[in-house]
Parts: sequence; C-alpha cells; structure tokens
Amino acid sequence: MSDKELHPDTLAVRAGIERSQFNEHSEALYLTSSYVFDNAAQAAARFTGSEAGNVYSRFSNPTVSAFQTRLAALEGGEACVATASGMSAILSTVMGLMQGGEHIVASHSIFGSTVQLFSTVFPKFGVTTSFVNGPDLAAWEQAVTPKTRLLFVETPSNPLTEIVDIAALAAIAKRTGALLVVDNCFCTPALQKPLALGADLIVHSATKYLDGQGRVLGGAVVGRADLVNGGVYQFLRTAGPSLSPFNAWVLLKGMETLAIRMRAQSDNALALAQWLERQPAVERVYYPGLASHPQHALAMRQQTSGGAIVSFEVKGGREAAWRVVDATRVISITGNLGDTKTTITHPATTTHGRISAEARAAAGIGEGLLRVAVGLEHKDDLIADLSRGL
Ligand SMILES: Cc1ncc(COP(=O)(O)O)c(C=O)c1O
Repeated sequence: MSDKELHPDTLAVRAGIERSQFNEHSEALYLTSSYVFDNAAQAAARFTGSEAGNVYSRFSNPTVSAFQTRLAALEGGEACVATASGMSAILSTVMGLMQGGEHIVASHSIFGSTVQLFSTVFPKFGVTTSFVNGPDLAAWEQAVTPKTRLLFVETPSNPLTEIVDIAALAAIAKRTGALLVVDNCFCTPALQKPLALGADLIVHSATKYLDGQGRVLGGAVVGRADLVNGGVYQFLRTAGPSLSPFNAWVLLKGMETLAIRMRAQSDNALALAQWLERQPAVERVYYPGLASHPQHALAMRQQTSGGAIVSFEVKGGREAAWRVVDATRVISITGNLGDTKTTITHPATTTHGRISAEARAAAGIGEGLLRVAVGLEHKDDLIADLSRGL
C-alpha cells in the first residue's frame, strides 16, 4: 500500500518500517557504526555508490533511514535527511546549499541560536543575512538581492508565536528565485504542512515535539529531493553532524503519538491562554489560537490549531516574571520545549540571552516575557501553578 493512500495518523505509526530477517514487530535499533561486505569488489562498489547499500553510519543507517522515511511521509516531502540536532539541520542546509557571497533573508523572530548562527558564524564564510519583520511581506521582498539564495522563517515563531503567511512567502521566493525554508518545530506536520503551502524545505528540531518527551536531541531537513539528497546530504556525509541510530529509534517511537499529543497539548494551551488573558497581572498573551492574536485568522488558515506554546508579558518586568517562574511547583523551569511535561522559560535571560539587546528588542522580547510550553498535565494544575506567582 502506498503512503499516499494512508492517513497521517497511520503513517506516524507505520511509515518507514523495513523488517529484518527476524520479523520484529517494533522498529529495530541498529547500533552499528559500519557494515560488512561480502568481498573486496562489493566494498569497492558500495564506496563508489555503484551498488546501493550501507557503508558507514555517518551517512546511512537503517534505523535513521526509517526515521527519515516516516518524517518525509508525514511532511509530504520527497526526501529527508536526519541530523544530530535542530541547529545542525539549519547548519547543513546553509552549508550544503549556499556559496560564500550569497545572502539569506530571515525574520527577526527566530530561535536565539539561529540568530547567532546567521549573524556570527555564517558571515565568517561570506554568507550574510538581512533580518526583517516576519509578517511584513513587503519587507521580505525589499530585502531580497540578486545574491539571495534562502528565505528562512519560523512560524509560529519562538517565543512570540508570530505567524508568517507561508503561501505568500513561497510566492515571493518563486518570483525572486530564492528557496523558502520553514522551521516547522512549533507546529510539526501534525498541525501545519509548509511543503503543501509552497515551501521548498522544512527544518526540524526533532528534540522538541517529534520526540515529545524530552529525551534526545535530533533534527531533520525535509523537502525537494534535489536539494535534500544533493547539497544537504553531501554536506552531512562529509562533515558528519549525523543523527545517532539510538536517537532515531527514540524519535520513531515518539512520532507514533505525535498527533494525539499535539491535539491534547494544544487544547491545554488554549485553556491556559484564555485563563491568562483574564489575569490582571498579565499585560498581554501571545497565542495564535486566541481571537486577540493579531494573525489569528491566518494562523487558523494555515494551522489546524494554535499549538502548544503560550507566551505572555507580565506587568513589572524581570522581577515580576522571575517571581512567576520561582513560584511554580509543578511546571519545570527549563529551556526545552515540546515535552509532555510543561516547561517555563524567561527568554530574555535564557534562550535569547546571548543575542544582542538590539536584536532582542527588534524581536520584541521584553524583560517581562515568559514562555510556557504546555504539556499533558491537567489544565487546572497548570493554572493553579501559574496563579501562585501572578
Ligand atoms: C524553533 C527552533 N528551531 C531550532 C531549534 C534548535 O534545535 P536543537 O536544540 O535541537 O538544536 C530550537 C531549539 O529550541 C527551536 O526552538
């Protein structure tokens, strides 16, 4: 049966399985760094690529391949390359597809390490980035130069859940000859399908919702086969920021419950956001599922729900924000997100603490801002936990 005939819930559980001679039911974990050849001629043929087959786990492993096949099926992508982390997915995309002298346009509101990578690492190799206000489509168009190779966007963004119109940005990318890369970390394919909206590539931090239980690091690049199997894979196989088979196996198991987790965590997040909006100590709530979100209509068009991240600004700046964090007893104080356990973060001093004050201000990350990545606990316990410090 082809993947195209199956519902995503089924693909999340079934796609990518290739049974060994032992007929195991659960996905096998192949912990091996290399593979044995029948003879010298076969070894030579495998190394040149004239014969298909595994050679070395830096660039191919059956468990990693199963993860790649499953994620490609869920995203509706032609191909997928797995990486050691979300950051190495972004690194491999740029190193694999760009040349010195070329240019990226990215939204201001992206993950702090992505800002760092674009503004301090890539310029060393002659790749520069212009940052624009994500929802302002005219700003993207104006920032494109003849050297622009990539448009890079996170939607919803971390941490302000800013929404960018993927289909409109894809049209700009096509018109200008650039590639559109979407970081689909916050929504995952369970809630949003950027490739169907015209994106060329998706990058993932699999560390987040694809695992969903805060256990392993991982990442992936999904999309057009010529780009993924061409430049991105060629960079990965040579430079080696590869996903470990063990992590791939954990991620495969995580993906089986992706859709039901995303639905349940989104429901919890909506309840929490609605409650936060009614609290006098809260200045503003950022959640795409709320009618008060400036891009609520767009979010509901390109996503199937608001997602599980709620950010909010408390009155009283850093002191008040830290008081809320320190008063929690159930919610975990940690930088990660995408876990079944709810987490709380003060972005200005943690995830976005290394970027410059100007970049933070441009991204709208104030001292009173808190980000809650809502998990699967009962919503009443989460509300009680936040109300302690508000
Ligand atoms: C939106 C987004 N993209 C990328 C990353 C980087 O992923 P990783 O930590 O797996 O390298 C993160 C991490 O928090 C993220 O939130």
